[in-house]
Amino acid sequence: MSTPEAEIQNPKRLVVATGNPGKLREMQAYLDDLGWELQLKPPELEIEETGETFTENACLKASAVALATGQWAIADDSGLEVDALDGAPGIYSSRYGKTDTERIERLLGELGNELNREAQFVCVVAIARPDGAIALQAEGICRGEILRAPRGTKGFGYDPIFYVPDQRLTFAEMTPEMKRRYSHRGKAFEALIPQLSQLKGVQSD
Ligand code: IMP
Repeated sequence: MSTPEAEIQNPKRLVVATGNPGKLREMQAYLDDLGWELQLKPPELEIEETGETFTENACLKASAVALATGQWAIADDSGLEVDALDGAPGIYSSRYGKTDTERIERLLGELGNELNREAQFVCVVAIARPDGAIALQAEGICRGEILRAPRGTKGFGYDPIFYVPDQRLTFAEMTPEMKRRYSHRGKAFEALIPQLSQLKGVQSD
């Protein structure tokens, strides 16, 4: 069995602080290639998102899971900010309705015939050490537009109404590889990955 010291020497296993299978699939894809093994947090471990920003929530989720499991942990906090709704639903994106369909309908209802459809997805990823201290964090943003009706069947959450003009596709019409490349989560991981190798480098010195 590995000791906490051994985990610090070789933090190749990360406990993921999410119960969202869509997010887990995407996070796994970014880290698998680098040989990082992801492990789901214990299902009974519920963490309340009491922060007021994506960064606060990502850090509090990563710290809480690390402390509860005594292992390195990773969390992302993400959401959709709609310009004409003053950034709503923002950190409340997952609490905007009970199901993805309800959340999409509520957002489309609130936006109505508004002509300014501009929006952005934001993602903050945080990694915590077994003692709960935050070791790394990174942010990614993807700008786009909210369509008037859903398009596409892939992905999860608000993907079918989030249109990326440069690609002429919604997130739900993109292949997983395309979404990995253009999404807020993809950009956050792109910023995080060089820091991850630095973390390993520092520890193997
Ligand atoms: P949280 O980070 O667990 O608070 O959840 C963020 C919520 O934002 C998710 O439940 C989704 O509704 C939405 N969201 C975050 N990232 C994405 C994405 O890549 N596609 C679609 N919806 C997303």
